[in-house]
Amino acid sequence: MATSLVLGIESTAHTASVGIASPGRDGRFRVLSNRSAVWRPPEGGIHPREAANAHAEALPGLIREALGEAKVTARALSAVAFAQGPGLGPCLRTGASAARALALTAGVPLVGVNHCVAHLEVGRATLACEDPVLLYASGGNTQVIAFAGGRYRVFGETLDIGIGNMLDKFGREAGLPFPAGPAIEELASRGSELLPLPYSVKGMDVAYSGMLTAALQLRRDGAGMEDIAFSIQEVAFAMLVEVAERAMAHVGRDELLLGGGVAANARLVEMAEVMARERGASSFVPERRLCVDNGAMIAVLGAMMLGAGVTTPVGESAVRQRFRTDEVEVSWR
Ligand code: ATP
Ligand code: FE2
Repeated sequence: MATSLVLGIESTAHTASVGIASPGRDGRFRVLSNRSAVWRPPEGGIHPREAANAHAEALPGLIREALGEAKVTARALSAVAFAQGPGLGPCLRTGASAARALALTAGVPLVGVNHCVAHLEVGRATLACEDPVLLYASGGNTQVIAFAGGRYRVFGETLDIGIGNMLDKFGREAGLPFPAGPAIEELASRGSELLPLPYSVKGMDVAYSGMLTAALQLRRDGAGMEDIAFSIQEVAFAMLVEVAERAMAHVGRDELLLGGGVAANARLVEMAEVMARERGASSFVPERRLCVDNGAMIAVLGAMMLGAGVTTPVGESAVRQRFRTDEVEVSWR
């Protein structure tokens, strides 16, 4: 196969991003560019239509910048990939429209990709891990996953809100900037006292809304933000690492791969490494810019799919707001 060059468009929620990726000779994938614009709500949560309008304004410039950074023209592309779901309808439709227009102009096929699978595959594509248990910890999703029978099977997940949403909701109430994960990480680095928070693991599943309520109560009771942030991280991440370890033991895998925006957190990475080391396994995490929502991960998965001959006819390119990880037939592995 001649070297393929795939441009990927991400716009499932707060981030519009465009990246370009290409397969390397070593079986891994190279990221040639990755340009993002994050929409931040003036107050409260994300407003899908306002975010979509911002993405519509940002995407043409991001596409030009991504092509420029990779030093290629649209005509050199082999395909245009886009995040087909899951996500917010108006945001998804904006990215899909941009992808259709660009694919039509460049005369290349579309590849509609699953955003969650892209968070996972960007790790396997850029790191030296082969068949890991996956810990996907992001804003909307918290899942422990392993590949089996041609699909990414969800072994455990949050029973209520995603871990990132818990962090962001706590941050919103506590007056931290959005997204709150990085601010909580910074505060936690100065905390030391472990305050009581509910540790909620049921089998392979976790739950975070009780922790959110309890953390907000600690704040009303006058506990320091550094100690609350420290405690949230210690308890919330310990829950994740426990279910990840159980999944590794269960399916007999000795690799763990983190993905999603919360995997940008150094304390989570450290806890995962300690757990892996203690059981003679290895833990992997993608570069920080490839953990949070980004176009490069969409391009990477698009390139993997294109390599396996998977493309998306325009007639099948409608967005899928509730596109689940385990619905995807993984024909490229
Ligand atoms: P999903 O992938 O479930 O659709 P998303 O696309 O909204 O969610 P991502 O960009 O993958 O999310 O992740 C965003 C989340 O990551 C936010 O909740 C943010 O607070 C969190 N996050 C980012 N950096 C950090 C960090 N350093 N520590 C903890 N959380 C972080
Ligand atoms: Fe995401």
